Amino acid sequence: MTNQATSRTPEAATFIDPHDIDVDLNPSGNPEFDSIVDARISRREVLKSGAAATGLRMFGSFGLLGLAGCGSDSDEPSSAPAPVAPPPPPPVLGFSAVAKSQADLVTVPPGYTVTVVYRLGDPINAATSDYRNDGTDAAASFAFRAGDHHDGMHFFGVGANGQYSTTTSDRGLLVMNHEAITPAYLHPNGATTVNSVRTVAEEVQREFYVHGVSVIEVNRSGNAFTYNRTSAFNRRVHTLTEMELTGPAARTPLMITKFSPDGSKTRGTVNNCANGYTPWGTYLTCEENWAGYFRRIAATDDPNRTAKERASFARYGVAGTGRELWATVSPDTADNIYGRWNAAKLGVSADGSDDYRNVANTYGWVVEIDPFNATSTPKKRTALGRFAHEGAWIGPVVAGKPLVWYMGCDSRGEYIYKYVSTANWDPADATRGAAAGDKYLNDGRLYVARFASDGSGQWVELRFGLNGITAANAAYAFTDQADVLINTRLAADAAGATKMDRPEWGAVNPRNGEVYFTLTNNSQRTVATADAANPRVYNDIRTNGVNQRGNPNGHIIRWRETLSEPSATTFVWDVYLFGARATQETANVNLSALSQNNDFSSPDGLWFSRASNICWIETDDGAYTDVTNCMLLAASPGAVGDGAKKTIVASDATTTRNVDTFVGATPGDANLRRFLVGPKECEITGIAESADGKALFVNIQHPGEETAPNFTTKTYGSYWPDGGTSRPRSATIVITRNDGGVVGL
Ligand code: FEO
Ligand code: CA
Ligand code: CA
Ligand code: CA
Repeated sequence: MTNQATSRTPEAATFIDPHDIDVDLNPSGNPEFDSIVDARISRREVLKSGAAATGLRMFGSFGLLGLAGCGSDSDEPSSAPAPVAPPPPPPVLGFSAVAKSQADLVTVPPGYTVTVVYRLGDPINAATSDYRNDGTDAAASFAFRAGDHHDGMHFFGVGANGQYSTTTSDRGLLVMNHEAITPAYLHPNGATTVNSVRTVAEEVQREFYVHGVSVIEVNRSGNAFTYNRTSAFNRRVHTLTEMELTGPAARTPLMITKFSPDGSKTRGTVNNCANGYTPWGTYLTCEENWAGYFRRIAATDDPNRTAKERASFARYGVAGTGRELWATVSPDTADNIYGRWNAAKLGVSADGSDDYRNVANTYGWVVEIDPFNATSTPKKRTALGRFAHEGAWIGPVVAGKPLVWYMGCDSRGEYIYKYVSTANWDPADATRGAAAGDKYLNDGRLYVARFASDGSGQWVELRFGLNGITAANAAYAFTDQADVLINTRLAADAAGATKMDRPEWGAVNPRNGEVYFTLTNNSQRTVATADAANPRVYNDIRTNGVNQRGNPNGHIIRWRETLSEPSATTFVWDVYLFGARATQETANVNLSALSQNNDFSSPDGLWFSRASNICWIETDDGAYTDVTNCMLLAASPGAVGDGAKKTIVASDATTTRNVDTFVGATPGDANLRRFLVGPKECEITGIAESADGKALFVNIQHPGEETAPNFTTKTYGSYWPDGGTSRPRSATIVITRNDGGVVGL
């Protein structure tokens, strides 16, 4: 379901979305409006130094940077910059805008072709039969079939030696997440449940397999791509796959389970939303709404838990029946494949080695997968913190500098994070494969963002003993750095992070290193809590007159690190784009002056093409669906500071308040254009491209999910992609230009 669903105002809530747990679990008193500005440098000074850095002509996509003064407050580089290649030019969009649509198909501009590549249930070896798509395919067969709800995705070129190649386009590994499931279409008649108990183990096992990650080989022939059903690279990672816990929180008491008494491993990954990649050719899959999968009835379990455990469960939302009721299957197996989803304290041991009271601590991480080794053990990277990880987006990769990844925690009022590796990047590691992972991803600094009202910002380090993250912290008494990493949200609360309007994807502009982040929407944003970085509170009225209040259409924030250093601890920011209906007023709502050719709501996926430098924006929307299905837009953005400071009026039904913000330059149709509209009731998410930019892979997630199916009449909310009376299927598509050119130009 679209994550927007339950973010509608009560008056708009036409159905309850059982999958959406983007609830506000953040009770901290952190200022949304950062009135305690103690930025060490003014916005003006940072803009000045940023301009100086841009003048140094810094980035290639994996390029080089001749800058110095990491985290420096000085405008002056401490050493002369090395000569580097000029930045790539801004893209010029070269297609006709696609009209909004509610049709049950994928629409792209004239001159482009859409091909369906990889659908729910498609087999990934020769031994597995074609998918029947009627709910009867055997559960075990899904270990070798495409999962459901395709999401974040990356294309890894396969070179002639069978190893990672950043320049190969004709042969690649497409690695993608399968975030969640639509149970209605997975089984003959939806999930079989009696009195809130799952009574058909086969159905639950099927659901275990359809979550996780796919690795599939794709091959180009002419202009078209197909997946190679018999490739030895093909692999499914799912909720039963054994994983190693790595980094500072691994092998600590909070990770002990019956499955792993030394806290060194766990089973599976779940709710893999967006993603990332590494310069050494591995995939990062990110665990988002994992908390809801665990069963823990707070009323009976809380009395058995410590105050710290209760605080942690409450902050992450580990309380409930478990959204798919997996733990209710009985009898359980010897290795507890069902019971391991019960996070209650059931055993008698002192350390948790006889139950799964700590199992939720083994989820909520960034997980590294080596797609080039189908038998490798995925590694959960605890140094990058534990929260509702949307994805992990790498900053500019510079020899001799730390590597950084930007990460969002997607729930209302949650935060944006940055991880900075301790090790400096050695280009020789680009060919070391997965062996490089431990070097860069197990040891580093984790920061959280504070966006100040003057347009500056700070990265506040989440380290035990610093920034209020101590044993004396009132909300949660931290004991050590493992405790900080496992309870990252609580640490960020203590550090005074800025509550954002649901951080989804990030992307780094190859032209200037600036970082973009989608803030998809937030129905709970109020006039009182509006701040400079989350400034809009308004009423977006649906065609049928239903009110949608708060920030229902979302926005895209961006920032430039001081001196354009990825590891800097200060930055300047503005809002690149505000989502809105084109018909909304431009003084306080449609601040980016969107037109019929580019208006959108609820930005989610985000990706800068390495081939074209186009900024691709995907939507996961429930607010504008009275007019159009979700979409993909292409953009050619400017830079932080290209717009102006603006005072807008935040307004709800009863009150108003003036809020100052920073609005990027109006894009106009020339620099922002709708490229694709998806089928009914889908989300557009996940995006990847061949190295030459001539093939753009996009995921169509959960078409038809909002309409309850009628299997007797074969009435569904969508019949995409197979048509006729077939059940809808999440699927990967590839978009190519009929003349073989780079997509979007
Ligand atoms: Fe899975 Fe935040 O989208
Ligand atoms: Ca989704
Ligand atoms: Ca979303
Ligand atoms: Ca998302």
